[in-house]
Amino acid sequence: MSAYGSSETPAPKRLRTRHIQAMKAEGRPISALTSYDALSAKIFAEAGVDILLVGDSAANVVLGRQSTLEMSVDEMVMLGRAVAAAAPRPLVVVDLPFGSYEVSTQQGVGTAIELMKRTGADAVKLEGDRPELISAVVNAGIPVMAHLGFTPQSEHALGGFVVQGKGEAGQDLLRSARSVQDAGAFAVVLEMVPQEIAREITQTLDIPTIGIGAGNGTDGQILVWTDAFGLGRGRAPRFVRRFADVASVLEDAARKYVQSVGDRSFPAEAESFSDGGK
Ligand code: KIV
Repeated sequence: MSAYGSSETPAPKRLRTRHIQAMKAEGRPISALTSYDALSAKIFAEAGVDILLVGDSAANVVLGRQSTLEMSVDEMVMLGRAVAAAAPRPLVVVDLPFGSYEVSTQQGVGTAIELMKRTGADAVKLEGDRPELISAVVNAGIPVMAHLGFTPQSEHALGGFVVQGKGEAGQDLLRSARSVQDAGAFAVVLEMVPQEIAREITQTLDIPTIGIGAGNGTDGQILVWTDAFGLGRGRAPRFVRRFADVASVLEDAARKYVQSVGDRSFPAEAESFSDGGK
C-alpha cells in the first residue's frame, strides 16, 4: 500500500512531483523501485510504489553488461517507454545515461528533452552536483531528480563501489545537496553514504531525499528491484534486503514445465483444440 493509501488524504490518480514533495512535508515515507519493463511496472504500480526509476542499472541487471557506462539513449528510451505506458499512477523517472549530458549544458538539455518526448516519463535523473545543467533542464520544463553520494557512472573516478561522504567529505556532500536543491531539483537520491550525514541532509533540505544504502533517516527509499526481490542471484550489496526469492520461484516453474513436456503430461486434453469440438 502506498503511503497515500494509508492516510486520510485521497490518493491522487497520477503522482506528480508536487505530490512527492508534499509527502516529505507531511512526513510520509516515499517508496521507490527501479523498473525496466511493462510487466514489473504494472505490478509495482498496483502494489502502491510511488516512484518508478528506469535506472541505467538496467545495463547490469537486465542486459548483462559489466557497467552502467555502456547504456545508450536509445536503450533508455525503449525501457522508459514500456514502464511509462504500463504504470500511469507512479511518478516515472528516467536516467540520463553516461555520455549523454557531460559534454555541455546544451547536450544535457537536448537529451532530457529527447527522453521526455520519446518515453512519456514524468522526470529525468542525472548524476552529480551539476547546478547549471539542472537549472537549464528545469527551465526547459522538465523535473530533475539529482543523484549524489556514490554515483555509478563515475565508478572509475571514485575508485570503485566505495561509501561516499565520510568524515569531512560529509560537509561537501551537504553543500552539493544544497546546490542541487537551489538549482531546482525536485528530489535527490543519496547513494551509499553514512546514515548520519544522510539524516542531516534530509533535515536541512526542503526537497525529498531518496536513500539507497543511506540508512533510515531519508524521506524515501529506493532499491534495484531485481536485488530486492531476488531475481538476480549474485551477491547483493549490504544495504539490500531480500524481500522475496523470485529466482527460485521461476526456476521451480521452469523445472515443472520441462518435466511436464518431458513426460507428455502437458498439454492435456483441456489445453488442446479438437477438429469438431471446442
Ligand atoms: O540506475 C539505478 O538503478 C539508480 C539507482 C540505484 C538509484 O540510479
